[in-house]
Amino acid sequence: MIVINALVELQEQLTAAKTQGRQIVLVPTMGALHEGHLSLVEIATAQPDAFVVLSIFVNPTQFGKNEDFDKYPRTLPEDIARLEELSVTPDVIFTPQVSEVYSEGIPERLEPRAGAIGSVFEGAARPGHFDGMLHIVSWFFRTVQPAIAVFGAKDAQQLYLIRRMVHREFADSITILEGKTIREESGLAKSSRNRFLSSEGLASASRIIQILRTVEAEIGAGQTPDAALDKARMALTGLSLAKLDYLELVDKSTFKPIADTFSGEALLLVAVILDGVRLIDNITLNIQEPA
Ligand code: PAF
Repeated sequence: MIVINALVELQEQLTAAKTQGRQIVLVPTMGALHEGHLSLVEIATAQPDAFVVLSIFVNPTQFGKNEDFDKYPRTLPEDIARLEELSVTPDVIFTPQVSEVYSEGIPERLEPRAGAIGSVFEGAARPGHFDGMLHIVSWFFRTVQPAIAVFGAKDAQQLYLIRRMVHREFADSITILEGKTIREESGLAKSSRNRFLSSEGLASASRIIQILRTVEAEIGAGQTPDAALDKARMALTGLSLAKLDYLELVDKSTFKPIADTFSGEALLLVAVILDGVRLIDNITLNIQEPA
């Protein structure tokens, strides 16, 4: 495992790997690695002939003005130590500088655009976030030219937009693999931001997944999605320290809210601000046709 921050050095490694018939697998991250990220690395290193590049880059353009860009944990030595404990480590940790990624300064208009789906849910709370995210992921795709890239299922809207971008802008030339959400014993989805929660915040946060599972059970038992969601919204609002942003069921294939008559795969999405920390989670529901 080598740490590279210069683009030329990365290109040398990629060329050598391709000459040896290795397939390039990319795991883009912003660092502060936890078990969720490590599970993505495990998926990456398990691919045949994989040459795994894990990128660590805290991307300024996906943070809003009042967001935690400066506060975002930068923990490279700890990240390297965690990766070194894996039975198969990535081949390269790529840590580019902002000045190299945005060599001509931050563009006025970030491309590709996230469009309408990029301005609902997380995009409504974080205007511009998905344009910045797609811009940087597209930069990594063009720079690293992976055959495969691995992302976590927890960021469901991000994953949806990346898949759509790969279809529209990269002619489906990159296979996107999805790593399932890794959870604490309490059920709380692992996140680099969990470290900012107080113990009271943590207790409330671990109730979120139980509330999502209740919605799943109630819809499975024949309750309408609307009724189950209303009850769950009340439960989430009642959590100590919590401010509910949204709880919504969307069609997994379009990311649009579903009607009560919907059947098929839906994503139950939630965002809660707890202790000032924005937490998101989701589960997939298989909704049967109403009897
Ligand atoms: O999910 C993340 O950590 C980031 O949004 C990503 C995909 C690495 C782009 O900066």
